[in-house]
Amino acid sequence: MEPILTAAIEAREHAFAPFSKFKVGAALEDDFGRLHTGCNVENASYGLTVCAERVAVFKAISEGARRFRRIAVCADTESLTPPCGACRQILWEFCGDIEVVLVNLAGKTESIRMSQLLPRAFDASFLG
Ligand code: THU
Repeated sequence: MEPILTAAIEAREHAFAPFSKFKVGAALEDDFGRLHTGCNVENASYGLTVCAERVAVFKAISEGARRFRRIAVCADTESLTPPCGACRQILWEFCGDIEVVLVNLAGKTESIRMSQLLPRAFDASFLG
């Protein structure tokens, strides 16, 4: 299995999801080939929960990474779990039209591009 997929599967194990019990892992590859992982981190106030994808993006940015190639997202679902709307916006703004690889624990995968997940996106280019 590709290292980026293994990294997403392993990151999922660190998920802090006592409320939903829905564990998600992500691995974001930067342009040096470095992998930045994330898991969902839930909060008792629910709304402060942060998804695995955003944790991975913010970790990567905080470590100085600025350009990215692709992200893998792992959840234990038969129908592969895509990023939520909030994560799509963050991924678009920080990573652009990268490949998103969805994977489950059985090793089923599917690839989709950010421009398919978030068509006609709003971003900084509109701010003049
Ligand atoms: N979640 C993610 O981390 N990523 C996704 O792509 C979908 C949803 C998390 C948020 C929350 O902790 C749990 O999954 C249930 O929504």
